[in-house]
Amino acid sequence: LRVAVVFGGRSAEHAISCVSAGSVLAALDPDRYDVVPVGITREGGWVLADAGQRLAIAGGELPEVIGGTPVTLVGDPGGRGLGVLGAGGALAAVEGGLVGIDVVFPVLHGAYGEDGTMQGLLEMSGLPYVGSGVFASAASMDKEFTKKLLAAAGLPQGDHVVLRDATGALCADPAVLDEAARERLGLPVFVKPSRAGSSIGITKVTDWAQFPEAVATAAAVDGKVVVEAAVPGREIECGVLAGPDGGPPEASLPAEIRLKPGTDWYDFDAKYLEDAVEFDVPADLTPGQLRLVQETATRAYLAMDCQGLARVDFFLGTGPGGEDRLVINEVNTMPGFTPISMFPRMWAASGVTYPELVDRLVAAALA
Ligand code: DAL
Ligand code: MG
Repeated sequence: LRVAVVFGGRSAEHAISCVSAGSVLAALDPDRYDVVPVGITREGGWVLADAGQRLAIAGGELPEVIGGTPVTLVGDPGGRGLGVLGAGGALAAVEGGLVGIDVVFPVLHGAYGEDGTMQGLLEMSGLPYVGSGVFASAASMDKEFTKKLLAAAGLPQGDHVVLRDATGALCADPAVLDEAARERLGLPVFVKPSRAGSSIGITKVTDWAQFPEAVATAAAVDGKVVVEAAVPGREIECGVLAGPDGGPPEASLPAEIRLKPGTDWYDFDAKYLEDAVEFDVPADLTPGQLRLVQETATRAYLAMDCQGLARVDFFLGTGPGGEDRLVINEVNTMPGFTPISMFPRMWAASGVTYPELVDRLVAAALA
């Protein structure tokens, strides 16, 4: 089976995608799969990745897709294929012409990868691929529409405002958040680009004086800016995986992210560059909490029409009567696969090893 692992790309999460791909490539059994590593540069060029391509964070340095033989995705007469472009733009002979691809594993995070655009390209090309389709990818990437769909399904979420002007048009002017909304949301708020990941472009605002700069930071990533109320509670994540043989989706054991003293919140550096957090895999939960998290994760996956996999992120707090109060933060359709990422670790804790996990994902893509 020939699997194209596609990584890098034009999003701000380029480097994290490279690190995720490094782990996925290592987990694909060479006896079972003929793996074609395809990198997408920050500019959007597709290349066959060199064996020497670094796909790990080394000494605080993030990896990046560099050169390689240019390739392009084309449909072959059988409706699938990866063409290899020679220097002159002509299709060059690689193993006798087009490289037939059976399935694509788009290990891409953020825009142009996790947001339905790549999924659309693969649909157009007739290539099976791992993970959610166009709609679920696009909707889950956009925090506004994730919240709308979760609300429609009766699933719990935090208070938030999308910055729009009086006509309803998107507007990254901090003044459109009026006094009443500021009072309702309270402080701190998290100011986020609606369509991004890995906490890129997010600011925790503890004083409204910081708000204009926070809006500008978010708007530099995405013109749609979401202001979210802080949700008190433990930070819990749960993996969801398509059931084997087309069965119902299954939830992993959840994990908890605990910030070490001195770490304010789970931002990009805390996630990937600093020794700032502790992970409990699995999380220490009561049986009732475990059931609540797993059921809600699966319901969110179904509400968003996800396929293959998703990681659902939560805050678990306490309601006024001392009861558990679970709030969904977001749904990630291509969660991180880096060595420290929660999705593969939660599945390992649930008895699904990394190689079994990628086997299941590939099998689900072909089902
Ligand atoms: N967006 C990052 C990769 C995650 O959700 O894990
Ligand atoms: Mg995310």
